[in-house]
Amino acid sequence: MVEASALINGGGAADAIRHLILPVFHPPGTFLGYPSFFSWLHDWAPILLMLVLVIGLFSLMRFMPRTRPQQIRPEAAPTIGWSDIAGADEAKDELREVVDYLRDPKRFKELGAKVPKGILLHGPPGTGKTLLAKAVAHESGATFFSQSAASFVEMFVGVGAARIRRLFRAARKKAPAIVFIDELDAVGGHRGFDVTGERDQTLNQLLVELDGFTSAKKDVVVIAASNLLEKLDQALLRPGRFDRQIFVSPPDVNGRERILRVHTRNKPVADTVNFNLLARQTSGLTGADLANICNEAAIFAARRDAECLEMSDFDGAIERVVAGVQSRRALTDHEKRVVAYHEAGHALCGELLPSVDRVHRISIVPHGRALGYTLNLPEEDRYLKTREELIDFMTMLLGGRAAEQLVFGSITTGASDDLRRVADIARAMVTEYAMGTASGAMRSADDSASESSRRTRDVEVRELADEAFRHALSLLDSHRTQLDALASTLLTKEVLERDDIDQIMGDTPPAAPRRIGELSVAAATALNPAARQPPRRG
Ligand SMILES: Nc1ncnc2c1ncn2[C@@H]1O[C@H](COP(=O)(O)OP(=O)(O)OP(=O)(O)O)[C@@H](O)[C@H]1O
Ligand SMILES: [Mg+2]
Repeated sequence: MVEASALINGGGAADAIRHLILPVFHPPGTFLGYPSFFSWLHDWAPILLMLVLVIGLFSLMRFMPRTRPQQIRPEAAPTIGWSDIAGADEAKDELREVVDYLRDPKRFKELGAKVPKGILLHGPPGTGKTLLAKAVAHESGATFFSQSAASFVEMFVGVGAARIRRLFRAARKKAPAIVFIDELDAVGGHRGFDVTGERDQTLNQLLVELDGFTSAKKDVVVIAASNLLEKLDQALLRPGRFDRQIFVSPPDVNGRERILRVHTRNKPVADTVNFNLLARQTSGLTGADLANICNEAAIFAARRDAECLEMSDFDGAIERVVAGVQSRRALTDHEKRVVAYHEAGHALCGELLPSVDRVHRISIVPHGRALGYTLNLPEEDRYLKTREELIDFMTMLLGGRAAEQLVFGSITTGASDDLRRVADIARAMVTEYAMGTASGAMRSADDSASESSRRTRDVEVRELADEAFRHALSLLDSHRTQLDALASTLLTKEVLERDDIDQIMGDTPPAAPRRIGELSVAAATALNPAARQPPRRG
């Protein structure tokens, strides 16, 4: 007891609080009961300082940039429907279920059916994930709350979590609603690696909301989009949260054709434009790339003052999107010859190897960073490739460098991109697909591999690339006439189309299928003029 009262009467801040609580009569000649202003300040300063700090912090938070959940009412939203999305048929089928549920939840509830409330769209950039989410909102008529996950995370811990709470509160009020969280990886990465704690706390709040709103019996569907599924925290992916994961893949040839048609719907297109051919020329491109090509084609046509888009506009647009903008780099005559032989080497290998896609166009007009390019035209989309086909593909990639070696006896820096691609393929063949000679059926991609198996892995990767290079050399050496013809025509015409290539190739038969490791002595000598012995057969 004694200690307690001593504490209260102990002066300083405690004394100041006592003055504040108890009614005090101040004798005249004092300042608020203190002998002077300075003794009052001495007691009150800590409290005043605290007050100023608290008020300052609150006003700082008030003026901090806020991103309120953006609400888009379906009728006011840009009307993106199913017809605006082509090529993502599996994803559309899955999402149609959600649309049906949001339109008529009673029908589903009567049968005791529960529709997954968390849907995660994942896939490479530009495949139409954001577009799909918008279409679901439009088709279902639900209120659409769209927010990028990156805008949740702030400097101050707890701000992101508060934003998530606010977003879900608003969505529940407007049910049926769709909460769309774009670029989920910004908050959804594995927990425990965040130094500030803000991202982890935001993710925890998201997990809580995903659990919570289901029990609230509100028709709120959460759709999220992400490029990297493997980076997401496992807790997000468990049943009850984002349990339905839809992979949105780059479109196949059919899908590409339909996407091109969607993006030219409002453009005047000449009857001569062959969409099927355009789709085949754009293998591997995403919906975003195709939309870009259609726009570029329209720009080309406008610059020509044309009435409608012609095939040549699309050709120019594809060239620009695939190879970059035409540059005005001036090459010396020797450089031009090197580039011509380099591209002719790629093209000739492509022509001679039956498993490689046929060449569609060769150009030695500099575009972007490339001094020339060879466009291949896949006959069909392929999903499985054999070991021999991959080596053939690497052979085609190395054809450029092999031609330089064969014709000029020296190699240039022009093959850097080809070399990078070859290294990627050879490494994937050994580590991912166990296609090396010593790896057997053992995948060895993980870093836990022993030192010796890592060394074996490196040797095998090098052997595969060398194998392809030797093959390219032998092919070009045995078809030197065609190589010279392709290069000299390229030097005069700069661009060779399919017909020109057919004319030069005549009825040259494709290269005979060969055993892996087989090699002509001529090629080995060209590879290393000092070598007299053919390399080991594999
Ligand atoms: N399947 C498709 N059909 C029609 N247009 C498409 C398709 N896919 C993409 N597009 C076009 O590409 C643009 C970009 O698509 P979107 O923003 O949906 O890509 P995303 O998958 O969300 O990419 P990111 O992962 O980078 O966010 C769209 O505005 C549209 O013009
Ligand atoms: Mg997106």
